[in-house]
Amino acid sequence: MKSNPDIKKVARQHAEMAEFFSGGLTVKKTTAEKTESPQVYPGGSDPQNEVGGLSAKKTASQEVINELEVIAEQTRQCRKCPLGYIRKNAVPGEGNTSARLMFVGEAPGADEDEQARPFVGRSGQLLDKIIAGCGLKRQDVWIGNIIKCRPPDNRDPKPEEIIACIPYLQRQIELIDPEIIVALGAHAAKTLLNTPKAIGQLRGMFHEYTPGIGKKSIKLMPTFHPSYLLRNYSDDNRRKVWEDMKKVIAELGLPIPQRTSR
Ligand code: URA
Repeated sequence: MKSNPDIKKVARQHAEMAEFFSGGLTVKKTTAEKTESPQVYPGGSDPQNEVGGLSAKKTASQEVINELEVIAEQTRQCRKCPLGYIRKNAVPGEGNTSARLMFVGEAPGADEDEQARPFVGRSGQLLDKIIAGCGLKRQDVWIGNIIKCRPPDNRDPKPEEIIACIPYLQRQIELIDPEIIVALGAHAAKTLLNTPKAIGQLRGMFHEYTPGIGKKSIKLMPTFHPSYLLRNYSDDNRRKVWEDMKKVIAELGLPIPQRTSR
């Protein structure tokens, strides 16, 4: 059972995270960063701004939208593993059905189980900041998890739960067809890449998510899970996530938001 987080510490972490991922880089820039001239993302959160061309991809067909809803309903009815009997709500995933960028986490927590929506608790608040730090909005991307139901006490998903649940996500990925998947944390990265390697070894570079023989591979960037960042709160870890996300933004051909140094 996890102990109650220190409220002041949590508030401070969130304030610093918000600053870090919204332009106030609180760690010193490296020499390389000082010499690069990042393209300025001028729009900020201006709703008039086209979010750096993320909307360039064609909108999803009605068939895709319908099938995604069918999958969501299947997850709500699902009893393929014991979690289906103890969850409050399944969390099928949500977001832009024609997203160019998809985030995949591990499993719903208590808040997600309550609200039937992914990443709405503490980790979700940090994910929102990371997305905003990339110059994007939550509605530009699609967000889901490896498994759709909350494991008790937020324990790690069991292999048999992942095996039972993963076909839902695989089909969601196929339908949404993103250009890039960001795997949040070890479970997402190891499952989607089918590798036993540690997240520390995987993050920082693009890998290929290969859905199956004859199917198109998708670029995948593993990075630390927001809850790991909250637990292992350091400039170094935050910098690593920001480095990973900068690669993602660049690969999408979007301007890298300018950050200020101290
Ligand atoms: N952690 C996850 O991995 N997914 C969520 O939806 C929330 C927390």
